Amino acid sequence: MTDIFGHRSLQNLCLPIFSAPMFLVSGPELVVASCHNNIIGSFPAANARTTGQLEDWLKEITAKVDAKIHASWAINLITNKLNKRLADDLAITCQYKAPIVITALGHPGPVVEKVHAYGGLVFADVATVEQARKASKTGVDGLILIASGAGGHTGSICGFAFLAAVREFWQGLLVLGGAISSGAGILASQILGADFAYMGTRFISSKESLAKPEYKAMLVDSVAKDIINTAAFTGIPNNMLRQSIEKAGFDPDNIPSSAKSKLNFDDPHSGAKAWRDIWSAGHGVGEVKEILSVKEIVASLTTQYQETLQKPIITRRFI
Ligand SMILES: Cc1cc2nc3c(=O)[nH]c(=O)nc-3n(C[C@H](O)[C@H](O)[C@H](O)COP(=O)(O)O)c2cc1C
Repeated sequence: MTDIFGHRSLQNLCLPIFSAPMFLVSGPELVVASCHNNIIGSFPAANARTTGQLEDWLKEITAKVDAKIHASWAINLITNKLNKRLADDLAITCQYKAPIVITALGHPGPVVEKVHAYGGLVFADVATVEQARKASKTGVDGLILIASGAGGHTGSICGFAFLAAVREFWQGLLVLGGAISSGAGILASQILGADFAYMGTRFISSKESLAKPEYKAMLVDSVAKDIINTAAFTGIPNNMLRQSIEKAGFDPDNIPSSAKSKLNFDDPHSGAKAWRDIWSAGHGVGEVKEILSVKEIVASLTTQYQETLQKPIITRRFI
C-alpha cells in the first residue's frame, strides 16, 4: 500500500490541521491565507452565490496557491438532493482540480469517482458512527468526525469515544473536529489516533474571515458557557452564541418553536438569516482571545504544539 501521506494533496503542512469550511465565514481570502501559512484551507461551495462566482473564486485560489510551496485547499460540497447546484459545482470543482473535496450531508459516492479521476482526495464529513460506517464503504480517502462541542451543525458524541469507535473499522485518513482550538488540542487529537484536526471556531475571528466585526468581537468576549445547542434556528442541532440569540430578540433560555427557519439549499443564501444574524461557535471559543491574522494564529498554535511536545505531558507516570 502506498503511503497516503506522500499524496500531493497533503504536502507542505506545518501543522496537521484544516481551517474548516464555514458557511458565510470562509471565503477565498481565508483559504489563501491558510494555504500560504501551510495549513489546509477550505470553504463551502455554497458561500459563492452562484456557480459563476464559484468559478471566479477557484480562479483566484488556483492563481494564488502554489502546490510546490503552499498547503492544499479543499472545497466543501453538500451532496444531498436538496443541493440543486451540486452537478454544476462538482463540474467546476473537477475543472479546477480541487486537491481535496469534503462532502457533507449526503452520499459521497458520485463525487468520489470524479475526484479520483484527476487525482484529488475525498473526505466525508460525518457526525455519527453509523454515518462513518456507511461513508467508509464509498471509496473515500478520509473521514472527518464531527464530535460534540463543534461549531456549526455539531455531532453529539464525545471525540474520545467517536474516534475509538471509528478506528475499529477504518484505517484510512481520519480527521477530528469539535472544540479543538489549541496546539495541545491538535497534539491530543493525534495521540487519540487522528491524522488531522479540523478547526473552525479558532478561525472565525481571523482577520481574513468574512465574519462581521461584531461577530469576531463576540467570540473574543465569549467562553464555553455562552454556547447554546439548539435546532430552533437551522432545523439541525447547532452550537450558537448566547449573546447573538439575545441580540436577535430571543430569550436564549426559552427559544420559541416559531424561531425555526430551515436552511433552503435551493438558494443557500435566501435561508441564511439564521446564520447571518445568529452566530455559531464551538466549545473551544474560550481560546479566541483576540482578532489575529491567520499567520498569527498558526504561529501561536505552532508554539503551543511545540511547547506541549517538549514539556513532560504526563505529570504522574504509573509505569
Ligand atoms: C459559523 C460556522 C459555519 C459552518 N458552516 C459549515 C458548512 O457550511 N459546511 C460544513 O461542512 N461545516 C460547517 N461548519 C462546521 C465546521 O466545518 C467544523 O466542523 C467545526 O467548526 C469544527 O468545530 P470547532 O468550531 O469547534 O473547531 C460550520 C461551523 C461554523 C462555526
